Amino acid sequence: MSNSRGRVVLITGASSGIGQACAELLGRNGHTVYGTSRRPAPDGEHYKMLEMDVTRDDSVRRAVEVVLAAEGRIDVVVNNAGFVLAGAVEDVSVEEARQQLDTNFFGVLRVCKAVLPAMRAQESGLIVNISSLGGAAGLPFQGLYSASKFALEGLTESLRQEVAPFGIEATLVQPGDVRTRVRENRVKSRQSGAGSAYREAFMKVLQAVETEEGEGVPPEAVARRVLTLTESRRVRVRYTVGHLSQRISLLAKTFLPSRTFEQLVMSLYGLSRR
Ligand SMILES: NC(=O)c1ccc[n+]([C@@H]2O[C@H](COP(=O)([O-])OP(=O)(O)OC[C@H]3O[C@@H](n4cnc5c(N)ncnc54)[C@H](OP(=O)(O)O)[C@@H]3O)[C@@H](O)[C@H]2O)c1
Repeated sequence: MSNSRGRVVLITGASSGIGQACAELLGRNGHTVYGTSRRPAPDGEHYKMLEMDVTRDDSVRRAVEVVLAAEGRIDVVVNNAGFVLAGAVEDVSVEEARQQLDTNFFGVLRVCKAVLPAMRAQESGLIVNISSLGGAAGLPFQGLYSASKFALEGLTESLRQEVAPFGIEATLVQPGDVRTRVRENRVKSRQSGAGSAYREAFMKVLQAVETEEGEGVPPEAVARRVLTLTESRRVRVRYTVGHLSQRISLLAKTFLPSRTFEQLVMSLYGLSRR
């Protein structure tokens, strides 16, 4: 890999939130940063912006080609673009579910497939996949979001073992609640409105989720972790970032009986069994 302070970094979804904070911090620390978003967005003081829709093969390919033509290499990719689909599993349409997976999971797959040939040729590289605590524990009314992040976790665990012989590393970052535009950009399943059998519980959980997000850590906390990873020689499979209470509750999944853990999560959201 090139000098640990002058890496060429591509960050998807850098027009707001975690991606923007990563672009700012890595750029300020001497890395050559290209951020992306679906619509043209102005360059930052320390990074350039490119158009990329992670749901489109041609768009992903074009943006990767622009970086490779300008820099001749890509050292680090931060797969961050994503959104949350909220709604009961029964209420979510298959089309809505497809859109969720197309961005949060297939988007990452497209970007990995586009950058890996260059990383293999240069015999180095780091892929940082932004997962979520929702990728470690299924959360009520975020089933498809959790599914997309669980899929990302499995993909990354496999990918690490395949690319290690080429000198390439891959890792997962699991943020807890982070104060970003995730709330404004959340998509609610069309069937989750009036008439849904889950309406009351859904609204209760949504309110709790929004309160937690408002009290989340700033996106710079995730960016600091991504900066450390960018400048590391070796990376572990996953890193959690967020309030200690959220990280501990995740740890509880490993030692509590499964129904007890479920009960704990449900009670956090004001849900109870019959
Ligand atoms: N905020 C949290 O509490 C939290 C917690 C855990 C994990 N995360 C994860 O962190 C990542 C970033 O989320 P955030 O909280 O920073 O949300 P955000 O402020 O809403 O930012 C999302 C970014 O993703 C981009 N994006 C969305 N769809 C895209 C697509 N199809 N192609 C390309 N870019 C796309 C958006 O850009 P444009 O709309 O401009 O294209 C935007 O830059 C997500 O993967 C999310 O799941 C967030």
